[in-house]
Order: sequence, then C-alpha cells, then structure tokens
Amino acid sequence: MNIAILGFGTVGSGVYKIIKKANMQTQNLSVSHILIRKNKQRVLPEMTDDINEILNDKATDVVVEAIGGIEPAHQYIMSALNHGKHVITANKAVIAIYLKEFTDAAQANNVKFYFEASVGGGIPWIQGLEKALRIDSVNSISGIFNGTSNFILDQMSRNGESFVDVLKKAQALGYAEADPSADIDGYDIANKLCISADIAYNIDIRNHQDLPIFGIRNITSSDVKFFQRKGCSVKLIGRTRQIGNKFDYVVETTLFLNRTLEANTPDNYNLISLKGDTIGKLDFFGQGAGMFPTANAVVQDILDIKEQKCHLKREFDKKLEYCPELTKDDYL
Ligand code: NAP
Ligand code: HSE
Repeated sequence: MNIAILGFGTVGSGVYKIIKKANMQTQNLSVSHILIRKNKQRVLPEMTDDINEILNDKATDVVVEAIGGIEPAHQYIMSALNHGKHVITANKAVIAIYLKEFTDAAQANNVKFYFEASVGGGIPWIQGLEKALRIDSVNSISGIFNGTSNFILDQMSRNGESFVDVLKKAQALGYAEADPSADIDGYDIANKLCISADIAYNIDIRNHQDLPIFGIRNITSSDVKFFQRKGCSVKLIGRTRQIGNKFDYVVETTLFLNRTLEANTPDNYNLISLKGDTIGKLDFFGQGAGMFPTANAVVQDILDIKEQKCHLKREFDKKLEYCPELTKDDYL
C-alpha cells in the first residue's frame, strides 16, 4: 500500500517512523509522498509541496491528513476522497464540523474514511464505541479526553510547578495543539465529545452548540495542592448524555476522591467511559496524546484498510477461477 502523509509534525513524522520500523517491513507499507509547506526544506526524497502531485498519483492508495486545523485540511480530505483515496486523520477539529460530509464522500467513492486517533490518541475508543453500539444503546459518555490538560494538572499536583512551565513541557513533548488554547480552554474536549456523540446517538452534531465549556487556564498549583490536602484531585472532564431526541454536553473541572480511577489517571493519559444497556460501564484507558500513541492509532487504521483490501482481493481471485471474464472493475 502506498501512503501519502500530509504534514510532517508530531503525528505525521510519527506515522513515518512507525512505517519505517524494521518489523513493519513485512506489512508492505510504503510512504509515497510527504506534503510540506512551500517554504520548507525537503530533507526526505518523498517530500513535496504540491498536493496535486499526491491527488493525481494513481499509485497512492491512502492519504493520512496530519496538518491539523480546518482549512486546507477539509479541502484536502474531500479532494483525496473524491480522487478515490482512503483517508485517515487525527484532526478532531475538522471532523467535529465535517464528519457527515466526509463519511458521505467516502461512501460515494467506495473508499474508507477512518479517524481512530482523533479521540483518545492511542486508545481504540472509536472502535470500542462502534462495537458497543452493535448490541447496546449508548446514552452517556464521560471522562478525561485531553492529554495536555491532564498532564498539566498532574504535574502541578506532583511537583508544584507553575501552569505556564508545565504547559511549555506539554508543548515540547508534542501533546499540545498548535494553538494550545484548545487544550486548556476545553474546546479540544468539546470536539471529541461532538465526534463521540455523533457516533453514539447517530445524529449530526455540529460542534460547540452554545453548550458550557470551561477550561483550566485559571487554576494555580496552590489550588491543586489545596484539593490534594482535602484528599481530592481536580480533572478536566467532558460529559455528554442523550435523553430522548435531545442531547447535551459539558466540559468542566471536576473534583475526584483520590481512590477513583479518574484521580489515578496520570500524565498524558485519557480515561473515557461509556454506559451501555448490557455492557454496563466500560472504561478505556491509555495515552491520549503524543507522537507514538497517536501515530500507532493512525497506522492501525492503515492496517485495517490493508486487511480489507487483501480480503477483497482473495475473494476476487476465488471468483476469477469460475468466471475468468471478470475484470479489475468488478473487484473494486
Ligand atoms: P504539528 O506538530 O503542528 O504538525 C502539523 C504539521 O503540518 C506541521 O509540520 C505544519 O507545518 C504542517 N502543516 C500545516 N499546514 C500545512 C499545509 N497547508 N501544508 C503542508 N504542511 C502543513 O501538529 P500535530 O501534533 O502533528 O497534530 C496534527 C493533527 O493531529 C492535528 O489535527 C491534531 O489535533 C491531531 N492530533 C494530535 C495529537 C498529538 O498528540 N500531537 C494527538 C491526536 C490528534 P508548520 O510547522 O510549518 O506549521
Ligand atoms: N492536544 C490533544 C491532547 C492531542 O492533549 O489531548 C490528542 O488529541
């Protein structure tokens, strides 16, 4: 499979490094192009600054969008789908607005649009939610959805470091968004709630419907220490419920007793929970931000597409034995 990576920052370069890992060679994945900005130096032979070179390359099967933001990410994703390429993205900001447009375009072009890394980083949350929905109604989802804010609160409680210093660390570790206000003001969590609720409630939620979104900008290390002395940890939580044909969501700081799972979610980890009729409460826990956990989820999506393609090819080869007149178009 030939893969084009759009953007070579934390996630894009992580995807590249995983694909190049020695034990991945048997998977037959190859990076055909890496899209960089026009003013950037091409340090790898795969690099290009021309999106059309990627779109018009018939040999490129999959486009991984890792530039972030709304435009041109939205336009590049739509063009790639309309050029018959599978698309994978970790970009929750663009999905929270355009999920329906992307899934409709993927269906119309008979390709896949996957976005596992967009919520929960390395945690297989989207897959887990979709599996839960095969049996259950899921009417409530909640948890710690943002690695940067969790890292900041955790470091402030452990080391008494200042908010500003820990934010700088989170940026250096590649956890924070290009504009970290999305992390610390709660909008990144609102995007992830929109995507999760869209899937769980099967409705087209456009992001930030005037629902309450609070962040951690004004929390100091002495606040955090004070809560600690009272036996509690403060966490930035996202919650959504569906009641009948209505839904809500909120992003707010919440206190948890120190013995709870939430209070014991450290560093850049996320803890996301759903409630289903038969499964009950199901918790998903793991690294929610950072180069390798996120890139791992992207590459898992690539491997899922590859497996489906191999399965289709095997089915086609079997049919070909009986109907030699079949052409490649019948297989696709
Ligand atoms: P990043 O480190 O800022 O990387 C983005 C890269 O894309 C940068 O190298 C940027 O170049 C490049 N870029 C931006 N616009 C471009 C354009 N028009 N053409 C070509 N290149 C362009 O961001 P990231 O952390 O990798 O995040 C990428 C996406 O993954 C975002 O949507 C983010 O929300 C999502 N995500 C990130 C994480 C994480 O832990 N980092 C986890 C889950 C999801 P410049 O540096 O020159 O701007
Ligand atoms: N900035 C995001 C976070 C990246 O810290 O959770 C993962 O979505």
